[in-house]
Amino acid sequence: MIKLLDDTDLERSLRADVQAGLTASPKSLPPKWFYDERGSELFEEITRLPEYYPTRTERDILADAAPEIARITEAKTLVELGSGSSEKTRLLLDAMLARGTLGSFVPLDVSATFLSSSVDTLVADYPGLSVTGVVGDFAQHLGHLPDGDNRVVAFLGGTIGNLVPAERAAFLGSLRQALHPGEWLLLGADLVKDPAVLVPAYDDAAGVTAAFNRNVLHVVNRSLGGDFDPSAFSHVALWDPQQEWIEMRLRASTAQRVRITALDLTVSFAAGEEMRTEISAKFRRTGLSSELAAAGFELRHFWTDPRSWFSLTLARAR
Ligand code: SAH
Ligand code: TRP
Repeated sequence: MIKLLDDTDLERSLRADVQAGLTASPKSLPPKWFYDERGSELFEEITRLPEYYPTRTERDILADAAPEIARITEAKTLVELGSGSSEKTRLLLDAMLARGTLGSFVPLDVSATFLSSSVDTLVADYPGLSVTGVVGDFAQHLGHLPDGDNRVVAFLGGTIGNLVPAERAAFLGSLRQALHPGEWLLLGADLVKDPAVLVPAYDDAAGVTAAFNRNVLHVVNRSLGGDFDPSAFSHVALWDPQQEWIEMRLRASTAQRVRITALDLTVSFAAGEEMRTEISAKFRRTGLSSELAAAGFELRHFWTDPRSWFSLTLARAR
């Protein structure tokens, strides 16, 4: 494993993010802090919920498209950003290995414990493949991707939608900088659809997403000596039809004061006050194509499922 971030770096950026978010108006907390060990487990549980269609839809698309992706790209190195369990990625690994081009797999994730257990499983299951986990931040470390030729960078799961538009543009721009002309981005992005399908995917009946959302308060408590009472916050998920994103919030049930020792900070919440924790933007093909073009990528292939719920785009660096 390569560590571009250690615990000190993580704590430093958590501190800065929490300080900025809790003193802003309206308050917010940044999403990359969802994924401690418990958060990663809860996310895996989300992917199996009946309401959460993105994972299984993307898996179906990948199952169909993987041989074609392997043939078109002739990938020697597959890099995966925000790799999590890399479970769906196995479809790509299998197709690229069958094609005989692939030599190495480089999963990158900010969540070190989850990454190292995923890497251990992959190493055991793919003996001929070089697997190098990178603990890093895809908003910060794209300049440190291993060099090579014929690289394919996979960014799956709709995680691109968790970036606000300006962050997305910066991300795509720095990814383009990190690639040579002719190399590839494979992007999994969720599509705009009926809110009656979208909202339950982020507000499931069993309350797993609510627990996932509140988990960020446990992260702040544990890492920064906070005294958030997670049970005093309720989970809110709403569809913003202008921005075309789902917005996740935590709503304070009662007026309360929270102390964050490591920041020497006390914040007050009014009863009913809402704090934004995450967005999950939904896309259209035209928007994806123009955002990719603006960053120096050309959309070459676009796959979707029969209901057009999720998309997989193969874009080539110009
Ligand atoms: N790709 C997987 C996991 C998606 S969940 C799938 O499709 O199921 C999002 C993943 O991105 C988590 O594993 C989380 O730890 C990681 N992540 C979130 N923000 C990140 C960042 N800024 N840099 C690197 N990884 C990040
Ligand atoms: N990338 C996932 C998505 O946008 C992350 C996610 C799923 C998520 N469910 C969530 C983030 C609930 C926060 C809260 O679909």
